[in-house]
Amino acid sequence: ASEQSYEHIIVTHPAPRVALVTLNRPKALNALCNALIAELNTAFKALDRDDNVGAIVLTGNEKAFAAGADIKEMKDKTFAEVYKHDFIRSWSEMTQVTKPIIAAVRGYALGGGCELAMMADIIYAADTATFGQPEIKLGIIPGAGGTQRLPRLIGRSRAMELILTGRNFSAQEAYSWGMVARLFPSTRVVEEAVSTAEQIGKVGGLAVKAAKEAINLGEEMGLGEGVKFERRLFHGLFSTADQKEGMAAFAEKRKAQFKHD
Ligand code: CAA
Repeated sequence: ASEQSYEHIIVTHPAPRVALVTLNRPKALNALCNALIAELNTAFKALDRDDNVGAIVLTGNEKAFAAGADIKEMKDKTFAEVYKHDFIRSWSEMTQVTKPIIAAVRGYALGGGCELAMMADIIYAADTATFGQPEIKLGIIPGAGGTQRLPRLIGRSRAMELILTGRNFSAQEAYSWGMVARLFPSTRVVEEAVSTAEQIGKVGGLAVKAAKEAINLGEEMGLGEGVKFERRLFHGLFSTADQKEGMAAFAEKRKAQFKHD
């Protein structure tokens, strides 16, 4: 498997075909410094290539999923620096990962932490988790997709209020607005996310990849184009061994053994 040692993250394999990526800068509430993001991108790339991984869980610790971009690292940056190096652009490399990513959020998911969770495909949260886009209180705005993903997930008026005031919102709010898929007691969120990832890892990997691609690309298309794109991917899956196996297993009343090709 894709084992490698990192300074700010930990990568483990808690179940078959599941990778668990744990943000590990507890003293800074997992503030997302450049080095952490670089490690995260390296790890995601390796896991995406790893044939023994079907789905990825991303988590932090009980106190914080992540408290945002590293304010101390950022505070003296100039316009020239951030513009020249297109600061924060590398964060969105996570959205290029083709395997499903489940964010298991406990504690604070603020600023860039909330944005990182929204870049995942599914969010599971502790019922005690706290979300927020507090950037406005620092004299900035969300810079890792918050102004774009939050309104798409929870609606324009709610997102506008949250981003303009910077007020935190609860896991219950996030759940009732549809941003969070499921709520669990804090002690269970990671195991539940791993269990879902394990389930996803068992079905055909090419179909999983196509489903994620259809949903995500569909967000950038009109309905007609999206439905057509879906149909082409659907057609393509008839060329896979997993489609033959899945349907043969149904007809023969046995459990399918997917080989992910
Ligand atoms: N950056 C750098 N360090 C951070 C941090 C951050 N975003 N969040 C917390 N820390 C550090 C604190 O400075 C503190 O370090 P020291 O012990 O060295 O002082 C340590 O983590 C523990 O934090 P607190 O003592 O503040 O813990 P608390 O329990 O009293 O408060 C909190 C928790 C309410 C989350 C508070 O830490 C906080 O408000 N953090 C900042 C949240 C924030 O504004 N995030 C947005 C950042 S901007 C951004 O993310 C831009 C973007 O869109 C990408």
